[in-house]
Amino acid sequence: MDSTTVFALFILAAILTSTAAVKPQGGDFITSSCKITRYPDVCVSSLRSYAASLEAKHSQSELVKAAVIVSLANARNTSAWAVTLSKSSKSLSKIERSALKDCVENFGDTKDQISQSLAELKHLKRGTFKFQMSNMQTWMSAALTNEDSCLNGFQAARNGRVKMLVQGRVQNASKLISNALALVNNLASTAGYRKLL
Ligand SMILES: *[C@@H]1O[C@H](CO)[C@@H](O)[C@H](O)[C@H]1NC(C)=O
Ligand SMILES: *[C@@H]1O[C@H](CO)[C@@H](O)[C@H](O)[C@H]1NC(C)=O
Repeated sequence: MDSTTVFALFILAAILTSTAAVKPQGGDFITSSCKITRYPDVCVSSLRSYAASLEAKHSQSELVKAAVIVSLANARNTSAWAVTLSKSSKSLSKIERSALKDCVENFGDTKDQISQSLAELKHLKRGTFKFQMSNMQTWMSAALTNEDSCLNGFQAARNGRVKMLVQGRVQNASKLISNALALVNNLASTAGYRKLL
């Protein structure tokens, strides 16, 4: 090894060491927690109404609970909206009507799956923590899949107003569910119960 190489390795080692030593910004609990999600900006803004309490407590389980509640509220809204649309609009094509009917069913399942996750979150216990987290991972993944199924049903529909509206709603709902799932996964993998219970 010549001296240049040794020097380069020394610099590299120094950089790696200093990077490892940098801690995440402690100040903003929500922002740093949301970094692990796929849509961090959506994550931060969706939790805004919980900011005061979350920043005060710094509890991962409270944060996950808030994210699940937000995704449930949105899923309920989206579901109610789809029901109204499927009933009210006489201008739906046959394909749109049938796709929308499937979406309404899928959204119903999504609501149930997120509700079950929320119920589980409300009574996390040390002894059953892993099992409970695994249930939640299954349900939140299924909830996400149901949103995808809705979109898939619309693939054959023409690119009209209805399809655009549904896609917009579903994409928003999916982002919230995806983020909640990422936070659930994180809580599960960090054996969060030691910190939170
Ligand atoms: C539900 O929908 C209404 C009207 O579309 C909207 O004003 C409200 O903010 C929505 N709530 C959620 C949680 O998405
Ligand atoms: C999706 O979310 C964005 C950001 O919150 C919002 O501005 C937009 O109106 C939403 N779209 C639909 C179709 O709900």
